[in-house]
Amino acid sequence: MPNTQPPPKHEHETLHFPPGFLWGAATSAHQVEGQNTNSDWWEWEKTHLPENKRSGKVVDQYHRFEQDFELVTKIGHNAHRLSIEWSRIEPEEGKFDEAAIEHYIQVLSSLKKKGLTVMLTLHHFTNPLWLAKNGGWENFKTPFYFERFVKTVVPRLESYVDLWVTINEPSVLVWCGYIEAKWPPQKKNKISAIKAMWNLSRAHKKAYRIIHQFVPNAAVGIAHNVSSFEAFHHHSILEDFMEWFMDISTNHLFYYLTGKNTHDFLGLNYYFNQYINFSGEGHFPEIVDIETTKKDVSDLGWEIHPEGIFDVIMDFSDYHKPVYITENGLASTNDDRRVRFLLSYLKEIYHAIQSGVQVKGYFHWSLMDNYEWSDGFSPRFGLIEVDYKTLQRTPRPSAYVYQEIIENNGIPHYLLKLLGHSVDVKDVLKKDQKA
Ligand code: FCB
Repeated sequence: MPNTQPPPKHEHETLHFPPGFLWGAATSAHQVEGQNTNSDWWEWEKTHLPENKRSGKVVDQYHRFEQDFELVTKIGHNAHRLSIEWSRIEPEEGKFDEAAIEHYIQVLSSLKKKGLTVMLTLHHFTNPLWLAKNGGWENFKTPFYFERFVKTVVPRLESYVDLWVTINEPSVLVWCGYIEAKWPPQKKNKISAIKAMWNLSRAHKKAYRIIHQFVPNAAVGIAHNVSSFEAFHHHSILEDFMEWFMDISTNHLFYYLTGKNTHDFLGLNYYFNQYINFSGEGHFPEIVDIETTKKDVSDLGWEIHPEGIFDVIMDFSDYHKPVYITENGLASTNDDRRVRFLLSYLKEIYHAIQSGVQVKGYFHWSLMDNYEWSDGFSPRFGLIEVDYKTLQRTPRPSAYVYQEIIENNGIPHYLLKLLGHSVDVKDVLKKDQKA
């Protein structure tokens, strides 16, 4: 339903978010825990990456979670998204490690004791090594293995979890593992990709059913990588057709495969805007290499395009489901850019909410610097900076800007000054801490 309120006055008012909005950050087990030795990624890193690009101890959150969660509350978050590591819980096929489950109970209860709303991801890219050796997601038995894992953990963890994400970015897993083949199992094969996608969708449906068996009123979804698409030439029917095709075959495919009724909410991870161009050569329009456009990009070369998050939220508005932004963030060593990124993307989310979409939470990627898969440690995504030599954690100025947004449950007008360049965060924040 469109909002009937008049459009907000931008001059002086806080851009208010809905009451009870969840404000947090996201991480995944392999990217922060360290020593994840029973997983396919650990094995793959040993043979495919130079030593300085292997995950190793990362930021050692496996042992430092208490300290990290204290920081989470200190910088004002009211929610947190994290994942558990299947390969720790089931290091051998069918053998569940009680100590690992107990560890995650400690982790989750620490978050709950601090009053945080918990979003838990059950599968975030990594697999137990035994599963990978058995054919991984290509194996038609894998959804049953996943089901057994979910059946084991859900009754143990459910009292600490508010929102469940069954699988993180199934389409990225398939793309990077089987099409572009830059991640394990590095198998460039379209048939394998189709099998993997099919099995991931079955695994999600099974997990959805199991979680609801144990927790009838559970909120369950996936964290889905969604892109915005834009034709260069809107008068070109071919480009417009391609835009439509890309949208349904990437953003909507998993929902078609699983059925919309196995999603209580839509978890959207937004990082990419893609331009479509038909140069006249060949038969079809193509996705434009962003470098040729000279647009503003992150340290990973991903375009900074705040309007795109509005576009994807609106694209999904006809599902009529609550939306959580389960990931959105910037790889940059320049924290001023992160401040501008945060404000400009949140402003677009605000406009989507004003346009009638039920967006209920935002999880910034990421809480702290971490292991960025095959890109190693150089991309800096954290609201909290990590010194990888000492493992010391230091909140960046952007963390304090975010804190001030959270305290206001919206974007106070004075913070919008920070959208300008060369504006010092310290001069704008109301609280005298900080940055
Ligand atoms: C997403 C992943 C997450 C992180 C960010 C930068 O695709 O879900 O683990 O690597 O990208």
